[in-house]
Amino acid sequence: MSIQWFPGHMHLTRKAIGERVKTIDVVIEMVDARLPASSANPMLRDLLAQKPNLKILNKADLADASRTQAWLEWYNQQDNTRAVAMDGHHTAPAKAMIEACLDLAPTRGTMVKPMRVLICGIPNVGKSTLINTMVGRRVAKAANEPGVTRQEQRFSLQDGFYLFDTPGVLWPRIIVAQSGYNLAAAGSIGRNAFDDELVALELIAYLQQYYASVLLERYQVVDNVAEVQAMPDHELFELIGRKRGALMPGGRINAQKAAEIILQDFRSGMLGRITLETPAEFEEWLKTGERL
Ligand code: G4P
Repeated sequence: MSIQWFPGHMHLTRKAIGERVKTIDVVIEMVDARLPASSANPMLRDLLAQKPNLKILNKADLADASRTQAWLEWYNQQDNTRAVAMDGHHTAPAKAMIEACLDLAPTRGTMVKPMRVLICGIPNVGKSTLINTMVGRRVAKAANEPGVTRQEQRFSLQDGFYLFDTPGVLWPRIIVAQSGYNLAAAGSIGRNAFDDELVALELIAYLQQYYASVLLERYQVVDNVAEVQAMPDHELFELIGRKRGALMPGGRINAQKAAEIILQDFRSGMLGRITLETPAEFEEWLKTGERL
């Protein structure tokens, strides 16, 4: 899969964040709890290295709770970093976020020395939902399209506490092929950038290895977990497609339809709470993947 992430546009965003960050006390990076590695932006790591960092693992309601815990522990071991898991629809997310920021920059947060927090995240990670919930109204959201300049937005969460939205659209940067598949499976990259069937097959292969019981329960196309694990991924894909009626005239499998069904089941949480990557896998990617 070849993916080109609008380098010119990224360059502008990078510059804008670099400028903004000079007057910022804490930087929040929101990631998708189902794919914390792939939904992060490696560019931020270097750009924001000097600032206290809060990671929000959003969409925790869709993620595997034990893996979310492992990610929180992994982030919390890093210098100058805190991590919290969240569900952007939760009614009072501001409290956890404000507390974590005050913990990271304890001298800020007063009228005299206000706390200025920058929130960053790739499109679709849930940033607008969280901001809407925290400010209690629906805030303007620019299209997540390359080339669109987003107006900077500043929100007052409480006296002496300001939240700034990212100046620009921040795209993920894919360092290994698996990252691209995971982003595509979660619906975080545009549909034109990938092939649904390939992404669904990769998803099935991963689930066979780590969440075989989920596949067994949801689709019931074989009798037990061992059979789920032993079957070649494309055969399982075909059985699922048939069972769910993804067929063409003449009875051949409609692979596009089958892929859409499987991907939609994952995205909506119908498959259950699943996380596609672990800290150990991420560390491996950093060793072997192509760095920025
Ligand atoms: P963005 O600003 O980062 O681009 O993301 P946005 O808030 O627009 O959220 C993208 C999608 O993710 C939305 O769904 C939103 O409802 C969903 N979402 C956000 N936070 C959470 C969460 O914590 N858990 C779950 N399960 N979903 C979350 P959508 O279908 O695109 O739009 P909508 O019709 O739900 O508004």
